[in-house]
Amino acid sequence: MDKTSMKVSSQPESEVTVRSQSAQGSAHAAAPNGNAGDRNARVDSDIFRAVMRQLVGGVTVITTADDGRPHGFTATAVCSVCSEPPTVLIVVNRTSRTHPHIDARRRFAVNMLATHQRHIADMFAGKRDDQFDGMTYSMPDNGAPVFEGVAAFLQCVVSSRLDVGTHTIFIGEVVGGGTSDSWPLVYHAAKYGRVNQLD
Ligand SMILES: Cc1cc2nc3c(=O)[nH]c(=O)nc-3n(C[C@H](O)[C@H](O)[C@H](O)COP(=O)(O)O)c2cc1C
Repeated sequence: MDKTSMKVSSQPESEVTVRSQSAQGSAHAAAPNGNAGDRNARVDSDIFRAVMRQLVGGVTVITTADDGRPHGFTATAVCSVCSEPPTVLIVVNRTSRTHPHIDARRRFAVNMLATHQRHIADMFAGKRDDQFDGMTYSMPDNGAPVFEGVAAFLQCVVSSRLDVGTHTIFIGEVVGGGTSDSWPLVYHAAKYGRVNQLD
């Protein structure tokens, strides 16, 4: 993307022009925001989606265990909040079948998938009932499922929640975790990939 075509003011409300390019190369341009400064103004949803497609995310599967069964879904909306105490947040659509189980059990695990686990990302982004069949995972007492071979994982206890629009932000205090040598699976512009250059 030509950086000179991006002009964003330091104040979100007075954003002037955002010109972005999708992965396919077609350009989306936002007209100057005539409602700059109006707190009720909303960015065009196509522009919002185009901007968010530019954000590279690590691919995770959020899991929980409730009613004696494992549950999970693919997620990129995972963020470190602070390290004292170790805390993360996840953002969960309230239509997700896993949502009521996280709400009830108040525990979840963040499975940070490795590059060879793309099939797991695909499986848990769907609505099948047999997602855990054939999966190898461990589940500590009072914990949530952690898949074999992940790049890293966290075990979390929900400390608070906040409904925002269609989603719920769950804040999780981290009670366990671990890493492996595997490279993480990443997601950008609706495609899975791997990190191939870090300076
Ligand atoms: C790469 C990727 C990232 C996703 N990130 C999220 C997310 O952060 N939060 C969310 O609620 N759904 C997210 N989804 C959508 C869910 O994975 C999808 O809606 C899934 O079908 C929900 O399944 P469930 O209803 O069985 O829980 C993502 C999907 C993909 C493919």
